[in-house]
Amino acid sequence: MMELVATSIGDPGDCLMMPMPCYGGVFWDVGGRAEIEVVPVHLTSKMEEGDTRPFQLTAKKIEDTYNKARAEGKKIVGILLINPHNPLGDIYSAELIMDILNFCHKHSLHVIMDEIYMMSIFDTEAKYTSVLSLPNIPDPQRVHMVWGFAKDFCMSGMRCGVLYSVNEAVNKAVDALVYFNMIPGPIQHILTEIVLDKEWLDKVFIPTKYSRMREARSYMCDKLSALGIPVRKSPSGLYIWADFRKYIQPLTPENELVLFEKFMDAGVYLTPGIEAFNCGEPGYFRMVFTVYRDHLEVGMERIAAVLKDCAENGLTKPQGANAEASANVKEESLEDLLGLLQGRISSSGWLEETRTQNWATQNPVALEQFKQAMKSQEGSGDK
Ligand SMILES: Cc1ncc(COP(=O)(O)O)c(C=O)c1O
Repeated sequence: MMELVATSIGDPGDCLMMPMPCYGGVFWDVGGRAEIEVVPVHLTSKMEEGDTRPFQLTAKKIEDTYNKARAEGKKIVGILLINPHNPLGDIYSAELIMDILNFCHKHSLHVIMDEIYMMSIFDTEAKYTSVLSLPNIPDPQRVHMVWGFAKDFCMSGMRCGVLYSVNEAVNKAVDALVYFNMIPGPIQHILTEIVLDKEWLDKVFIPTKYSRMREARSYMCDKLSALGIPVRKSPSGLYIWADFRKYIQPLTPENELVLFEKFMDAGVYLTPGIEAFNCGEPGYFRMVFTVYRDHLEVGMERIAAVLKDCAENGLTKPQGANAEASANVKEESLEDLLGLLQGRISSSGWLEETRTQNWATQNPVALEQFKQAMKSQEGSGDK
């Protein structure tokens, strides 16, 4: 959906501003076929005048980026915002959103608001403002809200995006292009059934999801706190933005990847800030906590073991079974890192352990039921 909107509002070579660190997929979403350049609004751990916390987005930082890019001859057509944010977990106040909308209106810029985590706000005290809820959007024609099922409905991979825009030209263009991105009918049917069941969503799904998120997050935060890892206090997201700088000595982008490799070698995947989120400084990782509790426990034990090793022996390259493969990823991209992860999954014992024969031996009752079911299907001539 981001690609379709980007294609509709810009031409190849045009630019969209975006606060960094950010979800890295965006470079491909808008840079791939639409060929739109992403201009970073750099947020850093150092607080600037007027900031109340590190990595804080302000309208002033957007304005400074805009002026600098224009002075360099770039054509900025808009800004892409993620609210709630990935990877920081922040939510933007109504005042900040209005400041940005006013700035964009002044310069005739589009605002793509990615609200894909809007129902992943586990902090009940937090006040969330969807851009669509604002009563006086200064330039509604240039505000486009996108959302998707992947995060809020725990359905990564469903790949169903939603656009809300009042701009007829944009809607017409997206309508024409969406032919190539159609959501399969059966998937649409399943998703429709889910959103229509409001009672179940309100009373069961969402409260259960939030309470599980809070529990998992608090478990991870406690473990990280015991390891001396500061985390960003944020009300939303399926993840934590964690500061591992203390364990990366000397603190360099290369060493951030060495720590990443060490985690991988120990069998735990933490997303490195520079490589995956275009963070402007080394030391930060995003840690997803929305996994089964036993996975979380094993993961945290592995992280603790890696950090203990770093504290005792310094940050040295991994020596484990996958050390050679890990060593080769240093110069390569996130795609290579993900390929490495997939390679490890497929070469791990999991596939071997889950072979049909093993399953059959371990589940004799289910096997018998399966055989009976197959027999009765054969009898009915149903293949
Ligand atoms: C901010 C943001 N937008 C969009 C997406 C893409 O979602 P989907 O899996 O539906 O393509 C992601 C996925 O990580 C994301 O974090």
